[in-house]
Amino acid sequence: MDTDSGFGQRGAMGIMVRPATSADLAFVAQDGHLDPNRVEYKIRQNEVFVAERDGVPVGFVRIEYLWSVVPYIALIHVIEQQRARGVGKALLAHLEQVLRDAGHSTLLSSSQVDEPEPQAWHRHVGFSECGIIHGINEGGVGEVFFRKSL
Ligand SMILES: CC(C)(COP(=O)(O)OP(=O)(O)OC[C@H]1O[C@@H](n2cnc3c(N)ncnc32)[C@H](O)[C@@H]1OP(=O)(O)O)[C@@H](O)C(=O)NCCC(=O)NCCS
Repeated sequence: MDTDSGFGQRGAMGIMVRPATSADLAFVAQDGHLDPNRVEYKIRQNEVFVAERDGVPVGFVRIEYLWSVVPYIALIHVIEQQRARGVGKALLAHLEQVLRDAGHSTLLSSSQVDEPEPQAWHRHVGFSECGIIHGINEGGVGEVFFRKSL
């Protein structure tokens, strides 16, 4: 979906979001948090989406489901040179539409408590803070959770 109209069309900003395929594996596993086999499984489950600008991958989002029911953004990542140019917003808009179409009414996400930038981004794009799990990350860093109504 583009940033302005229907699925599969390029937006005014040249951003298109689509489901990831196995050809995207290296790009959508670049953070190294997950074993590539696991990422490939998630691609097959339709839990990974890629944003392209002018045909080149520039960002991705990986999701999972709390209790296998409530969608949760495990990671949203835009390559550094393309940040603050609408890519994250386009990924989110596409994901929200996919989830609404599947009957979901809530989206969860999270960010480390020591990372103010992504927290500010989440608030800016409509998420509200809904809780903290203390000490869950390496080094005892907590994770702040967000929710957004779809
Ligand atoms: C967080 C991230 C996904 C945002 O994507 P992005 O493409 O840079 O953001 P966008 O350009 O789509 O921003 C959309 C809106 O948020 C605003 N915004 C961007 N970064 C912001 C920030 N740090 N604080 C507040 N607002 C921000 C933009 O100005 C824009 O506002 P507008 O809609 O009013 O014009 C990206 O910066 C990133 O990959 N960061 C590193 C990884 C990370 O921290 N991921 C989140 C934790 S899972």
